[in-house]
Amino acid sequence: MDGEGIVFLTSCFEIKFISTMINTVFKDGLFEGKVALVTGGGTGIGLRTARELAQLGATVVLASRKEDIVKQAAESIVAEGGKAIGLPCNIREPESIKACVDDVLQQFGKIDYLVNNGGGQFPSPAEMIQPKGWHAVIETNLTGTFLLTQEVFNRTMQKNGGSVVNVVADMRNGFPMMAHTGAARAGVENLTKTLANEWGRYGVRINSVMPGTINSSGLNRYDPTFKEFIFGYGKFNQTFRLGTEGEVAAGIIFLLSPAAAFVTGVNLAVDGGQSIYHPLFPPEENTKNEVWE
Ligand SMILES: NC(=O)c1ccc[n+]([C@@H]2O[C@H](COP(=O)([O-])OP(=O)(O)OC[C@H]3O[C@@H](n4cnc5c(N)ncnc54)[C@H](OP(=O)(O)O)[C@@H]3O)[C@@H](O)[C@H]2O)c1
Repeated sequence: MDGEGIVFLTSCFEIKFISTMINTVFKDGLFEGKVALVTGGGTGIGLRTARELAQLGATVVLASRKEDIVKQAAESIVAEGGKAIGLPCNIREPESIKACVDDVLQQFGKIDYLVNNGGGQFPSPAEMIQPKGWHAVIETNLTGTFLLTQEVFNRTMQKNGGSVVNVVADMRNGFPMMAHTGAARAGVENLTKTLANEWGRYGVRINSVMPGTINSSGLNRYDPTFKEFIFGYGKFNQTFRLGTEGEVAAGIIFLLSPAAAFVTGVNLAVDGGQSIYHPLFPPEENTKNEVWE
């Protein structure tokens, strides 16, 4: 379980902390020798995914704007026994993308897995979104995702193959109060299919994961009023609760892994059924649903 360490008795008086295991259904050493780049890897869903990848043997690069955060997160993974580094990367800036990919390739020679998890948005009625805010969200979530993926493909995956997972959001019925991110994420979903078609011949698979409403660090960053509103979303999916970071990580890691070798161009909803909500059968609370942390 997350946060539970293995304690090893080395002598009568000394207790040594060996590692912190997190929940995984994947086998030990699955990603040994693989290099994974996770944007937004210093927090939330990205960090949970990075920790699991590292536990399974991958060398993980955490990349986002806040260098101190990704470096600290990488240190915590190393302390857990994994291989990880943190690098600054702003996916809104092509030069920063290039510098980050340069750095990874200099240090590790390749990138096998790319998780485009970094992103963000703010709540607003559509009529009040200003051009600056609109562009910021589109440049981050859509353009940034494309430019980083293109850079990684051109520099390493075209030659070596690889697997990409884009984290999008539940925009199947539009995205009220977040028109910008809905448009951007729908764009990424379509981009996923295009790239799956264009790059399959190079041994590159690309899929997306569509989280529902996840009790993550990101959700907790919203202002109190919006947070209260969004934390009530649990009742709109069949599990009658919010999702966990571990549940999204499991979907991402499945799609990266060889278990998904025959899967490309899909958008996997990890949302408890939020995106298929039907007013004729509204979800009901029950005690039998499992939770995966
Ligand atoms: N939680 C949910 O319910 C939910 C639902 C659907 C989709 N998502 C999406 O899932 C992803 C992870 O979300 P989370 O809940 O784990 O929230 P989070 O902790 O806020 O994660 C977002 C990450 O993106 C990074 N980021 C933001 N702008 C960036 C940029 N320009 N360049 C590089 N990295 C950038 C942030 O790091 P820096 O600030 O250091 O750059 C942060 O680590 C996000 O894309 C989010 O929109 C979340």
